[in-house]
Amino acid sequence: MSNRDELLRIEGIRKTFPGVVALDGVDFDLRRGEVHVLLGENGAGKSTLIKMLSGAYHPDEGRVLVDGEEVHIRGAQDAERLGIATIYQEFNLVPDLTVAENIFLGRQPRRFGMIDRKTMEADAEVLLKRVGVNVSPRARVRELGIARLQMVEIAKALSLNARVLIMDEPTAVLTSEEVEKLFVIVRQLREDGVGVVFITHHLEEIAALGDRVTVIRDGKSVGQVPATTAEDELVRLMVGRSIEQQYPREVPEKGAALLTVEGLTRDGVFHDVSFEVHAGEVVGIAGLVGAGRTEVVRAVFGADPYDKGDVKVAGARLKGHDVNAAMAAGIGLVPEDRKGQGLVLDQTVEENLGLVTMRAATRAGLVDLKGQHEAAARIAGQLGVRMAGLGQHVRTLSGGNQQKVVIGKWLLADTKVLILDEPTRGIDVGAKVEIYQLINELTAAGAAVLMISSDLPEVLGMSDRVLVMAQGRIAGELAAADATQDAVMALAVSNPTNEKTETEASRGH
Ligand SMILES: Nc1ncnc2c1ncn2[C@@H]1O[C@H](COP(=O)(O)OP(=O)(O)OP(=O)(O)O)[C@@H](O)[C@H]1O
Ligand SMILES: [Mg+2]
Repeated sequence: MSNRDELLRIEGIRKTFPGVVALDGVDFDLRRGEVHVLLGENGAGKSTLIKMLSGAYHPDEGRVLVDGEEVHIRGAQDAERLGIATIYQEFNLVPDLTVAENIFLGRQPRRFGMIDRKTMEADAEVLLKRVGVNVSPRARVRELGIARLQMVEIAKALSLNARVLIMDEPTAVLTSEEVEKLFVIVRQLREDGVGVVFITHHLEEIAALGDRVTVIRDGKSVGQVPATTAEDELVRLMVGRSIEQQYPREVPEKGAALLTVEGLTRDGVFHDVSFEVHAGEVVGIAGLVGAGRTEVVRAVFGADPYDKGDVKVAGARLKGHDVNAAMAAGIGLVPEDRKGQGLVLDQTVEENLGLVTMRAATRAGLVDLKGQHEAAARIAGQLGVRMAGLGQHVRTLSGGNQQKVVIGKWLLADTKVLILDEPTRGIDVGAKVEIYQLINELTAAGAAVLMISSDLPEVLGMSDRVLVMAQGRIAGELAAADATQDAVMALAVSNPTNEKTETEASRGH
């Protein structure tokens, strides 16, 4: 390939933060019309690297060349002028503005000095169509779910007519259907000659979409390989060793029912949901987005109310809509939205890890600070949280390491019933195995685990039983041995409402 095709080159980039060498000599190049995947463990330096190109950070050392010329990207405007658009891992939209306002933020079309709303909204409509998302340009961003936010970000990047499009884990929050749509868009952009930098922890996406892969380990580029490279080789390059068993589930003896949910109903959201999770069990909940899985577990945890039904922990009925009561009874929830609900970003790793235990300890009137510290250090070590120290602010951890802290705080809390909602989103393949091993330890010690995941191989690989939800109801239950992707999908797209109505009707209700 000739030099003419080279859009961008990075040479010997170094970047340090207090106590951390984030990048320690990275080389990278991007050609016209290619998808170049950046691969590396949580905290390897991927997001930091792309922030050098968007102008968010400045390198301590090294050079960035665009079209063969050295450039200094000092801020978002410089990046925009150079044709570089970035979709960040943490979204960058303004919640109180509309979709159209966000897309054209700072460059709204004007007429007679006024913002030309009509044109702006019509232009936004075209872009939204192009990314295939069904959302009104007039909707407030605050009201959108996470997948739609992502699509709006992409529409915004398209509106910039970028020559370089950087996407930091765009698929982490998308459903497989949405991922397919995204791939169609990205392939079209590649066709048009755009160079795409693509970050993902889903290895199967690499062969499906990528052309080349640059692997980063501990802030250094350790190799560049074609996207057709076998997955286990990619893993070896990335983590420095191979992974024997991706789903190391060990099923212990099953004990008594710890969590019992009976006829739980929230009108219009979920209906007549009943199930049990026993001590030692991992029960997975599969289903399509919108099936009501998150809504059910939030109600079980007391975060949301319900209209009918019961939640019992070890046989004792819980007061509804009361998180404190649920926690006191031993329920923990690792939420889907880690930034919004799981973490206090401006506190340290240690403080965040102690959030749940501290509360219990303070209530009991005894705070064992030394014990807290040791426990925090142990769990951070087990999860391999990459940090400068326990005193680092959670805000400055990498995305995957933040997720590990959310999980860690509940693992420390001595929960009887741990509910995990999309626990390994954004987690690298090596760290996933560590989390699975911790789930094994928990259940071996007699805890019950309820796990929602949209990653079907993960649900199938780690659950002893799988509940499948569709349209707010439990559409069916599968034992681990019978739970195949096909069986789960058949239930997930079924229509349990109709079936129920028929049987109810035939019973004369
Ligand atoms: N503003 C900052 N202050 C201090 N440390 C930082 C800052 N930004 C990043 N780091 C550190 O730099 C390292 C690299 O982080 P980065 O976010 O680039 O990782 P990543 O490869 O994107 O990981 P992930 O897959 O988890 O998103 C981490 O150790 C992180 O804690
Ligand atoms: Mg990152």
